[in-house]
Amino acid sequence: MSGSRLADRRVLVVGASAGLGQATARAIAAEGARVAIAARRRPRLEACLATLPRGAVALECDVAEDSACERVVAETVSAFGGLEAVVYAPGLTILRAARDTTGSDWRETFETNLFGAAMVTRAALPHLLESRGRVVYFSSISIDDRPPRAGMSAYVASKVALESMAQAFQGEHPSVGFTTIAAGDTLTEKVAETPPEVAMEFVPRWMSAGLLPGRLMDAESVAEQVVNVLASREHVRRLAITPEPPAAAGAVEIPGVAGNPSLYRGEEEPAAE
Ligand SMILES: NC(=O)c1ccc[n+]([C@@H]2O[C@H](COP(=O)([O-])OP(=O)(O)OC[C@H]3O[C@@H](n4cnc5c(N)ncnc54)[C@H](OP(=O)(O)O)[C@@H]3O)[C@@H](O)[C@H]2O)c1
Repeated sequence: MSGSRLADRRVLVVGASAGLGQATARAIAAEGARVAIAARRRPRLEACLATLPRGAVALECDVAEDSACERVVAETVSAFGGLEAVVYAPGLTILRAARDTTGSDWRETFETNLFGAAMVTRAALPHLLESRGRVVYFSSISIDDRPPRAGMSAYVASKVALESMAQAFQGEHPSVGFTTIAAGDTLTEKVAETPPEVAMEFVPRWMSAGLLPGRLMDAESVAEQVVNVLASREHVRRLAITPEPPAAAGAVEIPGVAGNPSLYRGEEEPAAE
């Protein structure tokens, strides 16, 4: 699909070398936006850049460094002459029981999922105030689970904090739209590469708690909604996107999930009459 709904936008997508960030960069570029893609892995960025329309740029950035967060915004503005939107996708998930989660697990998770988001937003803010722009952060539907999924304490805490941070920025800057997208389970490399022994430890517990709908979304479905948020004339504060459960009887195979794909299967449902 291609269109021109974002033809007048200059957008920085941080965390665009893979997964939801990359799918988002492609989707917004297909709607005419000029896109700066940023992440740590330069070769992955170059490969993505080759598939984007002319005018896109690739910028190396590690959001764990404050100076890199400032630099990536400055480089985008210098390449494009301004900025209408930022999409923040980096997200670290260390699947580990709360009692085994170390100080460095907590710090690394918060550095990627929260502090980087705050520093990129801070750097982009003067430009977004000028353009009455938008910021979209990837949050997670898992923060709505009560109690949260086993093994996700640091991740869930960081995403709750991210949503609060977005609201705080929104309160202080009403002319800019801040959106959190609470994404449901999506098949990205991160999910597919979950080590089998880790998946075996936690996924059955999530399933028996009824927290998995039996299907993973693809990144493109979620990216479509980011386009809608950016194209909207209004501010969208929070969007929750969850997979439609499988309708047909029988389990759904999730190709590419490491180890035991059956762990991601849903309960069997009777076929529709
Ligand atoms: N997949 C899901 O099921 C799911 C569900 C709910 C929410 N989410 C959220 O959606 C977002 C994207 O998830 P995903 O599954 O697409 O993850 P992913 O496949 O692991 O991709 C994450 C992206 O962020 C970049 N990144 C990670 N750490 C970074 C750092 N320190 N500095 C700069 N870039 C960094 C990675 O690139 P480099 O490694 O090259 O830096 C990569 O491009 C995350 O915030 C995640 O929490 C995902």
